[in-house]
Amino acid sequence: MRQLNEDTLTQAVVERLQKAKDARFREIMTSAVKHLHAFAREVHLTEEEWFEGIKFLTAVGQKCDDKRQEFILLSDILGLSMMIVALNNKTVPGATEATVLGPFFAHGAKEYGYGADLRQGATMKGEDVWVSGRVLSVDGKPVPNAALDIWQAKADGIYDLQTDGEFELRGRVKANANGEYAFASYKPKFYSVPVDGPVGDLIRATGNHHMRPAHMHAIVSAPGYQPVITHVFVEGDPYLDGDAVFAVKDSLIGRYTKVNDAAQAKKLGMPNPFLKLEWDFRLAPDEGIKARKKIAASDAVA
Ligand code: BEZ
Ligand code: FE
Repeated sequence: MRQLNEDTLTQAVVERLQKAKDARFREIMTSAVKHLHAFAREVHLTEEEWFEGIKFLTAVGQKCDDKRQEFILLSDILGLSMMIVALNNKTVPGATEATVLGPFFAHGAKEYGYGADLRQGATMKGEDVWVSGRVLSVDGKPVPNAALDIWQAKADGIYDLQTDGEFELRGRVKANANGEYAFASYKPKFYSVPVDGPVGDLIRATGNHHMRPAHMHAIVSAPGYQPVITHVFVEGDPYLDGDAVFAVKDSLIGRYTKVNDAAQAKKLGMPNPFLKLEWDFRLAPDEGIKARKKIAASDAVA
């Protein structure tokens, strides 16, 4: 293998990869090399430009720590995260659609039962909302004892993980034996993805905005069902058509309605008036789920 040039180099690298024992690793690496070489050829990448690329990727890595995941953000704004969601979550008819996980999920949030108050300890107030609904199977039967991992940004559009503070507006809410769940929170607001790092520079260089429409995150899981990583967006949000990470699905847009009823407010421990969001999640049965997906999902909900 000598005297390689732009016409023979790709094949030489691919042949070298064939020694790898793991077939899936071989498949992925072979394709990655072919596409990377094709990309360099297509744009005729210069040495200076590739060095800029290496500096950018280095900065992305250096921005990461145990709370900040700049590579997830990069994958999100390039639409790669949503491509992988689409490939791996062919929605079973009737099941809640999946969308992007994002960089702000955290293990170890406090567990709550029916009627949880996720506003406890919040450092910032918002519009009070009572969120309630059911976890159902695709055939409409209640799913008993589901868990809903919920997280959302504070009123200033910043997630608790972006500050040094405690967990805030997040919790693991257990549904009851009839599949019913409820919790109090604040209505989410639209916010900017983090733009103080290299991915922010990249977004600015494209001339696009860096906003996400308001949403609450949820991972809903129950024994015997496929977990779903999803959002509930807010009807009427100005960024629904321009999400910086391409994650909006029509089926995930919820309506927040105003309730002006002192007796109901008192019963629920809410101020009067308050907002209400009624939202059912529908889970697909866990049959036929691919091993790869199972591993990823159990990591997300552990
Ligand atoms: C989020 O929804 O938390 C999020 C998703 C992608 C990038 C940044 C934030
Ligand atoms: Fe978010």
